[in-house]
Amino acid sequence: MPEIPPPQTEIRSATTAHMSCRPDPLQEPVAIVIFGATGDLTSRKLFPALFSLFAGEVLPQRLAIIGVGRSSWSDAAFREHMHNQVAGNASYSAAAWETLAPRLRYIQQEYTGDYAPLAQRLEEIDAELGLEGNRLFYLAVPPTVYIPIADGLGASGLAAEDHGWSRFVVEKPFGRDLASAESLDASLHTHFAEHQIFRIDHYLAKETVQNILMLRFANTIFEPVWNRRYVDSVQILAAESIGVGHRAGYYDSFGVLRDMFQNHMMQLLSLCAMEPPSHFEADRVRDEKTKIYRSLRPFHPQRVQSDLVLGQYAAGEIDGAAVPAYRTERGVAKDSQTPTFAAMRLYIDNWRWQGVPFYLVSGKRLAAKRTEIRIQFKHVPYSLFRGVLSEDIAANSLVLGIQPREEVSLEFQTKSPGAKMCLRPVQMHFDYHHGTAGPVLEAYEKVLLDCLLGDQTLFWRQDGVELCWGFLDPILQGCENDPGKQPHLYTAGSWGPEAAEGFLPPWEKR
Ligand code: NDP
Ligand code: BG6
Repeated sequence: MPEIPPPQTEIRSATTAHMSCRPDPLQEPVAIVIFGATGDLTSRKLFPALFSLFAGEVLPQRLAIIGVGRSSWSDAAFREHMHNQVAGNASYSAAAWETLAPRLRYIQQEYTGDYAPLAQRLEEIDAELGLEGNRLFYLAVPPTVYIPIADGLGASGLAAEDHGWSRFVVEKPFGRDLASAESLDASLHTHFAEHQIFRIDHYLAKETVQNILMLRFANTIFEPVWNRRYVDSVQILAAESIGVGHRAGYYDSFGVLRDMFQNHMMQLLSLCAMEPPSHFEADRVRDEKTKIYRSLRPFHPQRVQSDLVLGQYAAGEIDGAAVPAYRTERGVAKDSQTPTFAAMRLYIDNWRWQGVPFYLVSGKRLAAKRTEIRIQFKHVPYSLFRGVLSEDIAANSLVLGIQPREEVSLEFQTKSPGAKMCLRPVQMHFDYHHGTAGPVLEAYEKVLLDCLLGDQTLFWRQDGVELCWGFLDPILQGCENDPGKQPHLYTAGSWGPEAAEGFLPPWEKR
């Protein structure tokens, strides 16, 4: 049968009620204190997100954004650097910048030093701007200084909530294995209570990731088939075309399993697999995710061989440009065995998912940036068109596009017009942005907003962190202690090593 491109059956959004989704302006005054203010995360993500929230009149008027770092910057240098980060953005507003600039301050601080002068300076800024003692401490620094900073804040009284609230925001990685994650947590809890600690997973702040729960639990039509009776497999793909960039030092000692699987992939998995919580509230949502992590079937040593493929990129070409091999990237050991790609088949031992394989695949320097979740349904149990159709009936699938395509598509079969009985696969397609006019919050805008609101729904809870490390630790040990489990090389710009082909249907067709 000639190949017919599937028509795009567009579903129109029935409402423009999104306008009520705009965040309410925050009233509570606050000092946002960013450790690592001279770094990459602050420049590329945090400050642009804060500026956008300020320009959108979401942040309170009584506000200070205080950069902290070892570098000897002045307030003026900090302001100029931050201005350069946003000046070229489409959402830039000179008026908003003029209002925000005087609220930007910089304080030089050794992370392992004495925090009394910092506390004193924060008191002064607080009094000057009327911030009422509310402080958000955001750690945009390497994880090696998380504990010294927590200790310094604790020792200087800045973790206490006597006058206003004090919140402590940390980026992944939360440790590099179970033992170090437990020890990090114990150190943080010496000074901060659990309600003060916000462990970020920026994937949870992506609109389309949050939409997974809406799609599943705000509709009746999906849940009845969302189980082992109808689902053949679930495929979660987080492909990146970028390499390790300037983070080679960190990445080479972590690799893809710690960098992507312990956190983002596990969150996507739990959102797809969890039971509905009784209420959309932080602890009830996180309780359900925890149950999934507890139900992960442990990886026995043989499964490290059969259900896990590791890869590392070799030189290749992406978008017409030559890219170097991982081992020749600056900061990477020449004989590095760090995997930049992994494909894993795992099972969830519970009533809903018994026997259904979940395929988790993520890698750097792949052919394209694409994050998506494919629910692959079973084939029809019996074809009454046998002898009439020349081809097999393809199974249905539901694809949740997370990025860059933010969409939901349902693939199904229809009759091809004409005298003969022929099938054609078609898609019902929903573009997440169709029918919306308002600006969508970027992930870091959402993260910062929730921290300011004290809402932990989209943040990791420590039990989840530890359960995921508990699942991954034996796998990591199995790989790192087995000289035979070296990553397969794959050409940059491909879809990964050939050895992983059995883990997913051919991606090139996606
Ligand atoms: P950077 O390497 O840019 O470091 C941030 C700042 O920390 C630097 O400007 C420097 O400031 C200080 N710093 C750097 N190295 C050290 C060191 N060895 N000891 C003490 N201080 C140091 O990091 P990023 O901004 O890229 O990342 C910050 C955190 O965010 C990390 O935990 C990272 O894993 C996480 N993250 C980053 C992402 C990104 O896109 N960049 C994405 C997701 C998470 P100074 O010298 O002025 O003190
Ligand atoms: C980060 C990882 O957490 O997520 C990076 O450390 C990765 O290695 C990034 O590139 C991917 O995020 P996103 O939002 O671009 O998919």
